[in-house]
Amino acid sequence: MNQSEILEKTTDHVRSLLSGEGSGHDWFHVERVRNVALRIGRDEGADLFVVELAALLHDVADWKFAGGDHDAGPQAARDWLASLNVPQPVIDHVADIIGRLSFKGAGVETPMSTIEGHCVQDADRLDAIGAIGVARAFAYGGHKGRELYDPAIPPQPHTSFEAYKKNVGPTINHFYEKLLLLKDRMNTAAGKKLAAERHAFLEQFLDQFFAEWEGKR
Ligand code: ADP
Ligand code: NI
Repeated sequence: MNQSEILEKTTDHVRSLLSGEGSGHDWFHVERVRNVALRIGRDEGADLFVVELAALLHDVADWKFAGGDHDAGPQAARDWLASLNVPQPVIDHVADIIGRLSFKGAGVETPMSTIEGHCVQDADRLDAIGAIGVARAFAYGGHKGRELYDPAIPPQPHTSFEAYKKNVGPTINHFYEKLLLLKDRMNTAAGKKLAAERHAFLEQFLDQFFAEWEGKR
């Protein structure tokens, strides 16, 4: 099987798994991440085959929906790519990117060692900020039965992945616990530029939200 056949089969596989998903981790999220990751990858001179496979497979078995199992995502990618006889070094690289991708708390570093990983991580994080990021945060919060906001519950600066995972706070808190921190964690020049605009939109949204909360606007 050549690279374009592998990509085509992987696209169909992921689309059928994630279409209609209701927490913001649906096929269109994956499609946006794939497109932005490829765009950044071209600028960075990355191996676009690895970038595209990692972007396509990055959310097929996310720990958030796999009972907290961190190996489920990389393992699902390995199993799928092995079934297509993808060369082992490509499988290892894609699985490594997926294992390192997720944000794990304000005080937890998430080092990504390859340029291909940088592109996919930036693209995934860009989809968590800006207007789409706002929509996805509330979709996720609703999916998990969280309140929009409660002024009595302050945001938590999670210093371990365990603490971050256990969090059940209101969705507005997630902006302070993750979303507003992403712009300073971008890896690539293109990612930083896009993040700056999307970050400004998050601040504008929060400003309006709190003004309306207090009946000021
Ligand atoms: P990551 O790889 O960093 O986990 P994902 O692509 O899986 O990123 O998507 C995370 C999405 O889920 C983001 O849009 C984010 O806003 C949303 N999300 C995750 N945790 C929460 C939460 N506690 N409250 C609201 N949204 C959340
Ligand atoms: Ni994602």
